[in-house]
Amino acid sequence: MTPNQDLQKDMPVTDTAIALDGLAPFLKESKPAIQNTSLPTAINRALMTDISFAREIAEAAGVNLAEHAGIVNEARTDAARGTLFGASYCMLDGRYRSMDEALAKLAPEGVLELAAGHSPRGIATAGTYSLYVETDLADLVAQKREIVEALKPDRDPSQHIIRPLNALHGSDLIAAGALFEEKNISNIALTHEGLFFYLTRDEQKVMRDNVAAFLKQFSPNGAWVSPDFVYDARLDEETTVMRATYERSAGRPWTTFSTDDEIREFMRDGGLKVEFLGNDHLVGMLESARRSGATNPDHVLRWLRECRVAVVRLVGP
Ligand SMILES: C[S@@+](CC[C@H](N)C(=O)[O-])C[C@H]1O[C@@H](n2cnc3c(N)ncnc32)[C@H](O)[C@@H]1O
Repeated sequence: MTPNQDLQKDMPVTDTAIALDGLAPFLKESKPAIQNTSLPTAINRALMTDISFAREIAEAAGVNLAEHAGIVNEARTDAARGTLFGASYCMLDGRYRSMDEALAKLAPEGVLELAAGHSPRGIATAGTYSLYVETDLADLVAQKREIVEALKPDRDPSQHIIRPLNALHGSDLIAAGALFEEKNISNIALTHEGLFFYLTRDEQKVMRDNVAAFLKQFSPNGAWVSPDFVYDARLDEETTVMRATYERSAGRPWTTFSTDDEIREFMRDGGLKVEFLGNDHLVGMLESARRSGATNPDHVLRWLRECRVAVVRLVGP
């Protein structure tokens, strides 16, 4: 694979009927598409966590959260059975908290967020940086811009930019990099959460090479920061069901790694090195565990370890 190679012009959408148990009724009527994974995430985040702006964003997207209150009861029923699956909302909550901590530690001057979807991070933190560029596929971006304008009417649109970007299109990353270059910002964190495992391995390689090319050109000392390099080595029967649900909603396979070493090798092949930031200390701090009644700290830890953040940098100049 060469950097900037555009494998995929559009996300494929299959015609398979979907059954998204516990998710928004309107999604049951829509075809699986990777873009459709964003709103369920937003609904779950609003109901199962206390992340700032999570509720406001879901409501601004037109969701009546009261209609989805059953998600909380279902989560409590699952957790009461004491299964690993019962603690699964800790992954959604934990990955957001882990990214908050990683960005606070790295303190970049600028952030390029890929696949932002309905995430609150831009609204909540853009003002912290000299430049925050929030991106997703075009149709998602149009809705996100309306939501941000409704919730943050005083946003400075030259400092918190919202624009389309396909991570598989190298030219999109280069165009976004130019925005940082114009402001002489080279300490950049390129972030995403909830994207990488929806890409096939070939697409992941294209994206990796696009990111490496971006870092080389615009931020040689910057970092690719994400909780998305997950492995499913310890999958039990119920998490397999969960994975099948993700695959049905996105209409694409779920592509993970088997070990940290496999992730290191994958990155090494792209001229990159990885540091993993531990997040065990978040156990006991997650609102999602309280709301779902997930009391087994080992299960919460299992999900937290799944979403520890990787900080990926260029190996050399
Ligand atoms: C599960 S959602 C996660 C959204 C958000 N990061 C969050 O945590 O709520 C996955 C997102 O990836 C976006 N996406 C899928 N393929 C993409 C691509 N090739 N480039 C950029 N974004 C993509 C989708 O549009 C969707 O918003």
